[in-house]
Amino acid sequence: MEKLIWDEKYSVGVKDLDNQHKAIFNLINHLIENKHLTSRSESITAALSKMTQYFREHLDREEKYMKDYGYPEYEEHVIQHTQFKKKIMELNLDTMVHKDSVPDNLLLFLKEWWSNHILEVDMRYYSFFNDKGLK
Ligand SMILES: [Fe+2]
Repeated sequence: MEKLIWDEKYSVGVKDLDNQHKAIFNLINHLIENKHLTSRSESITAALSKMTQYFREHLDREEKYMKDYGYPEYEEHVIQHTQFKKKIMELNLDTMVHKDSVPDNLLLFLKEWWSNHILEVDMRYYSFFNDKGLK
């Protein structure tokens, strides 16, 4: 499976959010590379938990910035995050309970969601934060 490669088109103009997005791509790539190696269920559980915890930290930080700066599309954006968190919990649970490797549908979902979310949803705050001086 092809990995997720971060490049400038994914830049949202806020340095620490870009860095977190890069780290998220790395976590997903790590899972792609190791989907068979993590065949003991505890290590899959550990990898998914670690990744999901990082997602949570990142989404919380993004939401905090949006709230602190009075971003007008805050509510809609948070709904996207909430739906993602729900979906990823379901997929994680299914993987932890039933699977002995990380299934492609989970990896594809992660790749697609993050790529689309950054390019289509996060990008909407680019100029807002930039105008506020958050870079
Ligand atoms: Fe977001």
